[in-house]
Amino acid sequence: MPATLLDGKALAASIRAEARNALAAISVRPGLAVVLVGDDPASRVYVRNKVRACEETGIYSELHALPADTGEHDVRERVQALNRDPRIHGILVQLPLPAAFDAARVLAAVSPRKDVDGLHAENLGALVAGRAKLIPCTPAGILRLLDHAAIPIAGRHAVVIGRSTIVGKPAALLLLQRDATVTICHSKTQDLGAQARRADILVVAAGRPKLVGADMVKPGACVIDVGTHRLPDGSLVGDVDFAAAREVAGWITPVPGGVGPMTVAMLILNTIAAAGAPR
Ligand code: GUN
Repeated sequence: MPATLLDGKALAASIRAEARNALAAISVRPGLAVVLVGDDPASRVYVRNKVRACEETGIYSELHALPADTGEHDVRERVQALNRDPRIHGILVQLPLPAAFDAARVLAAVSPRKDVDGLHAENLGALVAGRAKLIPCTPAGILRLLDHAAIPIAGRHAVVIGRSTIVGKPAALLLLQRDATVTICHSKTQDLGAQARRADILVVAAGRPKLVGADMVKPGACVIDVGTHRLPDGSLVGDVDFAAAREVAGWITPVPGGVGPMTVAMLILNTIAAAGAPR
């Protein structure tokens, strides 16, 4: 029997509808500023989706699209101006930044209280300590998807493929906080298949199209696919070979319509939280 689909699109829509109703009942209008440097086409699409989702929810939003040749110093100054702007409660610096940038230095310029991506060192430290208020959006969305489907986490073996600061590491920390036994795999891991096959919950955030096939999935496992790749034929695929893996898994996220919409929904919740409004 094919796996049950974890429908991130539907869950995200219901979270956004709840947020819209909550905002309609209060006087504060949360504000989000998105800073985009350069013209990466994928980033442009992500940013447009985020700004549109905010508008639909009743969140004020500003897009600060800066040319690719903007200096790092100027970007940090823009961020600092947004830190002081009372209309803005959340600031998101879209990644990746141009290669010449020191991304950590730019992220450090964001006020921790406005850091709706949860990527400032202070918020990442709070996450390690288990008292984070602003959690990176994609990992937060993954946990919401698991909880919504009532997938057990405590005592289960979670394997996270990918060790990025934005997805892999925080996802592993959140699963650990929920008492999973967690393995983190990466490009130097030996026998990735053997590691992956031990997973009750397999989170794939490797950035490689169709890296995970059916042979890497334990029968009945929950497979969370964080990847999004546009193939030359125009189709969108994830880091998991969906058609093959769904025949083995117990639950699986589709691409598109799985983790992606949850990231946007969590951004909205983080922006509302940063504004101090009730969730
Ligand atoms: N690039 C791809 N996904 C994200 C995200 O969730 N936040 C930021 N800041 N950049 C991204």
